[in-house]
Amino acid sequence: MDTKNIVTAKAHANIAIIKYWGKLDEVKKTPLNSSISLTLDKFYTITSIERNQKLSKDFFYLNDELQNDNETSKISKILDYFRHPDEKVIVRSHNSMPTAAGLSSSSSGYAALVLCANKSFNCNKSRSELSYIARLGSGSACRSLYSPVAIWKCDIDEHKAIAYPLQCNIKLAMIIIILNKNKKEVLSRDGMRHCVETSTIFNKWVTTANDDAAKMVSLLQTNDFKAIGELMERNTLLMHETTLHANPPFSYLNSDTHACLEYIRKIRQDGFETYFTMDAGPNVKLLCRESEVHIIYKKLLEKYDESNLVMSHLVEEDYD
Ligand code: ADP
Ligand code: DP6
Repeated sequence: MDTKNIVTAKAHANIAIIKYWGKLDEVKKTPLNSSISLTLDKFYTITSIERNQKLSKDFFYLNDELQNDNETSKISKILDYFRHPDEKVIVRSHNSMPTAAGLSSSSSGYAALVLCANKSFNCNKSRSELSYIARLGSGSACRSLYSPVAIWKCDIDEHKAIAYPLQCNIKLAMIIIILNKNKKEVLSRDGMRHCVETSTIFNKWVTTANDDAAKMVSLLQTNDFKAIGELMERNTLLMHETTLHANPPFSYLNSDTHACLEYIRKIRQDGFETYFTMDAGPNVKLLCRESEVHIIYKKLLEKYDESNLVMSHLVEEDYD
């Protein structure tokens, strides 16, 4: 009998236009606020699982590097939702984007893992179950199961949140400006926890972000790109302000980020309508109308090298 079989799955990363920032429950990863994201075609993870009856423990290779026990145990916990715990596997995963640099590798990473485990162990779990399990790996991953636009809707009174696809009537795209590919010093998880525990403006953030999410749901039904972009920018800046009011304060943004924002504001005045957002890292993502993304990309080439720009359309695929 063949003791080995290998199954592969792919999932795309998502970038939040309304940020998830803060948890009520660290284990279930229940968010304190609703978030909304776009799932991008150019940023993805491909993961394979090799079932091999001869293995006595799990092995996890990320971008061809064998991971330590801590990283491997995070993967094993997710696999336990799909398998008999005695069955060990080799997981090999490749990210198309730099890992842990604020480019959302954890979202596609855990989404690809649950899709792959579902196939590998013939589980036939529904997409909403997969989204819930992916979230236990990394909160933002629950949104990567839905495209092109996803909401992770939070019901704070019920202490519950679910992700699902969101109706969007405007064609959007993104350009990623990679300013730094290095691994961040403060992982999203740690930065988020530190802000929940110490940031003096955290309550304001939670209330505002939940309001922002409700407003964005309505705006996405319209063609009001300006209002969508401005709301995304305000939400981004408030999220980053929480880090400045933490104790001790910190920032994911650096001088290159600030120079980039200044440039974006300037070209906007010149008629290049695009809006910025940043996650837990210095890199900048620009929201564009799909019909204008090429013109804006060309403009950016005046300042940034082609190798640092990624033009991304939204993913339309259906995982079922
Ligand atoms: P990012 O901005 O890249 O999402 P995070 O700090 O949120 O950064 O998450 C990075 C962590 O996500 C990594 O340290 C690793 O634990 C996990 N991760 C990244 N890629 C994968 C992957 N392909 N499979 C499983 N876990 C991954
Ligand atoms: C700033 O989903 O990486 O990118 O749930 O702790 O794994 P954990 O955090 P993660 O945080 C993402 C934070 C963000 C905003 C967002 O994607 O909504």
